Amino acid sequence: MLNLGVNVDHVATVRQARLATLPSPLQAAALAEEVGAWGITAHLREDRRHIQDADIEALAKQVKRLNMEMAVTDEMISIASRVVPHSCCLVPEKRKELTTEGGLDVVGQPARISDAVKALHDRGIVVSLFIDPDEAQIKAAAKSGADYIEMHTGAYSNASGARQMAELERLRKGSELATRLGLRVNAGHGIDYLNMKGILTVPHLNELNIGHSIIGRAVMVGMRQAVAEMLELMAAYE
Ligand code: PXP
Repeated sequence: MLNLGVNVDHVATVRQARLATLPSPLQAAALAEEVGAWGITAHLREDRRHIQDADIEALAKQVKRLNMEMAVTDEMISIASRVVPHSCCLVPEKRKELTTEGGLDVVGQPARISDAVKALHDRGIVVSLFIDPDEAQIKAAAKSGADYIEMHTGAYSNASGARQMAELERLRKGSELATRLGLRVNAGHGIDYLNMKGILTVPHLNELNIGHSIIGRAVMVGMRQAVAEMLELMAAYE
């Protein structure tokens, strides 16, 4: 069975645009779980542009399985150690990026990554490394002690035609290699309702983490009802 992790970051993006209390990522998480989401993912970025510390605390208490995405920093390791989410996905983070642009460089910093993995394991947290489907990175991930890799599907999602097919092949090979090395495999980034078809041909997948396309679709499928409810209130005007 392929599990779905729903990333609720962009519910918080809309909330933070007004520094308001709604829409609530917690409420979105509850609705997602209600219809079968296996897990809820939230990225506490160093710049706190969407998810806030209080969201992570509340989500960890409320949801069945919180997957906390985070940079490999002392601050984030300390927050995760206190909050104890079900899992942590270690990601690279650049302040100016719009979203997580590339995979984590495990090859270039093996000690830092394995120390982080150990610190999180000591708190009973499952650890995943968000990496490109690259042979060297997968081998380094296997040596780090991490339980999972999450393969970055951005290159596949952003490509088209032959280039997209080549990226899909990289994901397939990456998943085969990771599985042979004893890693479990998740995937995410840029997966939407159209490119899902290709993703389903990647073997050994455990979980897909999807955010932007689901939140974008939720806005559209909810638009009719939201406008109708407001009109209904206004109908009371004499
Ligand atoms: N997985 C990871 C590690 C991510 O950083 C992101 C983006 O926050 C996602 C999955 C979800 O990507 P998207 O919002 O494009 O579905």
